[in-house]
Amino acid sequence: MDKIFIRGGKPLSGRVTISGAKNAALTLMPCALLTDEPLTLRNLPRLADVDSFGHLLNQLGVSTMVEGARPEDFGRVMTLRAGKITATVAPYDIVRKMRASILVLGPMLARAGEATVSLPGGCAIGNRPIDLHLKALEAMGAEIELASGYVKATAPKSGLPGGHVVFPLVSVGATENAVMAAVLARGETIIDNAAREPEIIDLCRCLVAMGAKIEGIGTERLVIQGRDRLHGATYQVMPDRIEAGSYACAAAITHGELELVGARHGDMTAILAGLADAGVHIEERPDSILVKANGTLNGLTLSTAPFPAFPTDMQAQFMAMLALAEGASVLTETIFENRYMHVPELARMGADIQVRGRSAVVRGVPKLNGAEVMATDLRASMGLILAGLAAEGETRVHRVYHLDRGYERLEEKLSAVGADIERQSDG
Ligand code: EPZ
Repeated sequence: MDKIFIRGGKPLSGRVTISGAKNAALTLMPCALLTDEPLTLRNLPRLADVDSFGHLLNQLGVSTMVEGARPEDFGRVMTLRAGKITATVAPYDIVRKMRASILVLGPMLARAGEATVSLPGGCAIGNRPIDLHLKALEAMGAEIELASGYVKATAPKSGLPGGHVVFPLVSVGATENAVMAAVLARGETIIDNAAREPEIIDLCRCLVAMGAKIEGIGTERLVIQGRDRLHGATYQVMPDRIEAGSYACAAAITHGELELVGARHGDMTAILAGLADAGVHIEERPDSILVKANGTLNGLTLSTAPFPAFPTDMQAQFMAMLALAEGASVLTETIFENRYMHVPELARMGADIQVRGRSAVVRGVPKLNGAEVMATDLRASMGLILAGLAAEGETRVHRVYHLDRGYERLEEKLSAVGADIERQSDG
């Protein structure tokens, strides 16, 4: 398994190109199931999860063609075409490795009238049930059966009627599945308490480009008039706000200055407000954001919550940065029940962090020391990379396959702005 080796203490400086958003790509790709015409996605990030999703779609009969991209380019153009859905089963061995596979459920049900998807099971950050996905599809007229670890959804012969979905709590994935099912339903679907993350807006915009009728985009109430069919489209994937936020933390923690090229300020208001409260200088430019450390970092009190509040996917990265702040910080994780796996690893580097229930108290220390550390999940591993960039001495991060799921060419982007970082393969 690959490792990433970092010699810390070097302030980063320069421009980082922000890639297409992983969490937008993973909901845009299954949209190809909703039409027999080609869907072309531009600015698709080169990530393990994008490749895995492509393989899953191939198994369902979707052709995926990557147009020639020069090796030095970030992102790719992929044309997907579901001329005919040849299978309606998403098997356990794929779904268990990538939970986002559940996002084929809604579109497959809407297009083919049935869908069988392995239950995703839990992951490092929580048990992550899919009950809200299933209740939403039932509210739209689907029949749901659970048997031997699979969920089977079936629409009435006349097609999915549509209905009124009211989410008891905000769920990004359940909203995405409901929207992708509703656009081909026979009638109107209203979705209340819908997630409002920028990736949902990207999904809705792509579907509208394919001929869908969606009102209330960006709000918690979506009103969707189902269509008989959708047509193909070409759509540009939005920039990754979490990747951008992660590199912003890299500038802050190394007392450096980075220009985040392509980052969209409007997607990141809570992240940028957190950085500004920590004392980091933020400058919004037409097609980039300049992030400049200001010498010291102030402690913060932050709580994760659904968009537009502070995103859970930035909690680990902020914790690493605040480990070196002057004063104490209190971070509260309200979305996932076990998203503090990075704490013991940061502690091995000298961080002073006490987890009490859903909150972590981070007392700033003057320095971190390089160490051998273990990545456990995607964003935790980015927190360890950030700590390694700032630590005195050498850090080796194990199990970096977690990182490869969500950060395109990480060590290349970091070394281009001054980090002393390299990937070491076991062979
Ligand atoms: C998406 O996961 C993202 N993944 C996650 O990013 C992100 O952390 C999360 O949204 C929250 O913003 C993708 O977009 C591929 P949820 P998702 O449904 O859709 C509970 C990353 O690092 N819940 O909004 O799975 C759930 O357990 C990943 O890029 C139910 O109880 O998240 C959690 O506590 C990690 N029942 C909360 O809701 C359900 O049916 C929010 O989950 C669904 C969710």
